[in-house]
Amino acid sequence: MTVPQLEVRDVTVRFAGLTALDEVSFTVTPGTTHALIGPNGAGKSTCFNVLSGLYRPASGTVRLGDTDLTRLAPHRIAALGVARTFQNIVTTEGTVADNLMLGRHVLSRAGFAASALHLPRAVREQREHLARAREIAELAGLAGHFDSPVALLSYGDRKRVELARALCLEPRVLLLDEPVAGMNAAERVRMAEVIQHVRTELGLSVVLVEHDMGLVMRLADEVTVLDFGRRIAHGTPDEVRRDPEVLRAYLGTAAGEEDAA
Ligand SMILES: Nc1ncnc2c1ncn2[C@@H]1O[C@H](COP(=O)(O)OP(=O)(O)O)[C@@H](O)[C@H]1O
Ligand SMILES: [Mg+2]
Repeated sequence: MTVPQLEVRDVTVRFAGLTALDEVSFTVTPGTTHALIGPNGAGKSTCFNVLSGLYRPASGTVRLGDTDLTRLAPHRIAALGVARTFQNIVTTEGTVADNLMLGRHVLSRAGFAASALHLPRAVREQREHLARAREIAELAGLAGHFDSPVALLSYGDRKRVELARALCLEPRVLLLDEPVAGMNAAERVRMAEVIQHVRTELGLSVVLVEHDMGLVMRLADEVTVLDFGRRIAHGTPDEVRRDPEVLRAYLGTAAGEEDAA
C-alpha cells in the first residue's frame, strides 16, 4: 500500500457570518500521526467534516496525493482511502464480526446480488472478507471478541470496534475524532497502544483530534493548533507545547477539558 500525502491548503469554511475555518493549511506526512488541537469552537470538527466530505469549503483545497478531494461526496472520499471514526459510538447492534463486515461491503466487488445467489466467486470473496475482518479485529485488540455481540462489550472495547470498522475500509488515512473521549485511564492507555500498533502495522497516516494532551504528546509526530478558525501554531509536540500563542489560547479555557464536542 502506498500512502500519499494529505494536503489541506487555505481552507475557509463560513456559517452565516461566522468563519469556522480561516485559510487553514497543513500537510499530513505519509505514515505519520498528525494531531489537530485547539480550544472549544476552534474549528477541529469542521476541519474533519471537510476532510471527509460532509462540508464543502468556501475556498481552498484538500488533496490526497494527486487527487483533489475537495468537492467529492463522502462515499467517494472513503473509497479513495480516507476513513473516519466518530466521537459518539454508533455501533450497538450485531456482533463484532457483523459490524466489521459492514465496513468490508464498500470493498466487495461481487456485490449483494451475487452474494444472495451464493455464486462461487461471491462465496469466496465473502470468506476472504471474513478472514481479513478477523485479522483487523486482532490488530485492534479485539481477538476473542469477534463473535461477541457489541452490546455486551465494555465501553473501551466498543470504541475499538469503531476503530476496527474504519480500518475495514483499508484506509490510507485514518481520521480519529476524540478516540479516548469518555474512557478511563486504563482504557486510554490501551487505545493509545492500539493506535500506535495499527499505524505501524498498516503504515497508514493518522489525523487525530483529541483533548487529552497526554495522548497527543505521546502519539503525534506533528501538531497543528487552531484557535477561532485560524492556525496559530504548528510543529512537533514539544515545540507546540512551549509556543506562547498556544499557551495564551489555552489559558482562558480549561485546557485538557474532556466534555467538548
Ligand atoms: N453546522 C454548523 N452551523 C453553524 N455553525 C457551526 C456549524 N458547525 C460548527 N459551527 C461553528 O463553527 C465553529 C467551530 O466549530 P467546531 O468545528 O465544532 O469546533 P471544535 O470542534 O474545534 O470545537 C464554532 O463556533 C461552531 O459553533
Ligand atoms: Mg469538535
